[in-house]
Amino acid sequence: MKIVRTTAEIRVLVADARRKNLSVGLVPTMGALHDGHLSHVRRAREENGLVVVSIFVNPLQFGPSEDLDAYPRDEAGDTRLLAGEGADLVFAPATEEVHPHDRATTVTVGGLSEVLEGARRPGHFDGVCTVVAKLLNIVAPDRVYFGQKDAQQVAVLGRMVQDLGFPVEMVVGPIVRESNGLAMSSRNAYLSSEERKRATALFKALQAGSPFAAAGDFAGASNEMLRVLRSATGVEPDYATAVDADSFGPPEPGGRILLVVAARVGPARLIDNLLVEVENT
Ligand code: PAF
Repeated sequence: MKIVRTTAEIRVLVADARRKNLSVGLVPTMGALHDGHLSHVRRAREENGLVVVSIFVNPLQFGPSEDLDAYPRDEAGDTRLLAGEGADLVFAPATEEVHPHDRATTVTVGGLSEVLEGARRPGHFDGVCTVVAKLLNIVAPDRVYFGQKDAQQVAVLGRMVQDLGFPVEMVVGPIVRESNGLAMSSRNAYLSSEERKRATALFKALQAGSPFAAAGDFAGASNEMLRVLRSATGVEPDYATAVDADSFGPPEPGGRILLVVAARVGPARLIDNLLVEVENT
């Protein structure tokens, strides 16, 4: 496995692989890898001849009062894990390599970027789209891997890929959970063991809301999820609602229904979601 710092070098190595007729899979990450990320790397390994994992803590997607400086970073640990999964290239560029100081372009997906996470974190999805567009242009993969844990990010990026015609297949891996139901996230590193137990309230809320949503009672689902979150010690709910999984607007007849929750637990703001199996009446 090779660690690559520059755009020029990654382009050369990917071009070499293409000459050998290898397909290319890209797993974009911000590091602090956990089993959720590694599940994407394993899948990418099965499906591609060359597996590239990017590790880049993207400053554009952090608001001024967010945790950019505190965001967990462990490149040595991450590269050990990636070597164990058989990744070929780790692209770990410096900030200036990806976002030169005179950068003048921002990629914005209208509409679904502006609700829920987008409304609470202004500019967040612009930052995500801008860096992912750049990574797709640099690596030019056949497949790019994201996690369903960040459901709104997946919907926004899917729209960007479709609208801008990126020639890439987006592969979305399922949420990986701890045995107690807590969705794996790099931000779980901020939690004490007591807070980790408290944070299981997010998944419990989703499970409690699911039968209501499955029966078409979306207001009931939201109320039930908020009730579960509010009754948990040390959990401050932000939102709990049912949306259409693709548009992030209200659930649509025949569409996929997604329950989404966000809450603060100790120092971390956590999100989770659950796709609802709709009852056939
Ligand atoms: O999901 C993440 O880790 C980040 O938002 C991503 C997609 C790597 C872009 O920085």
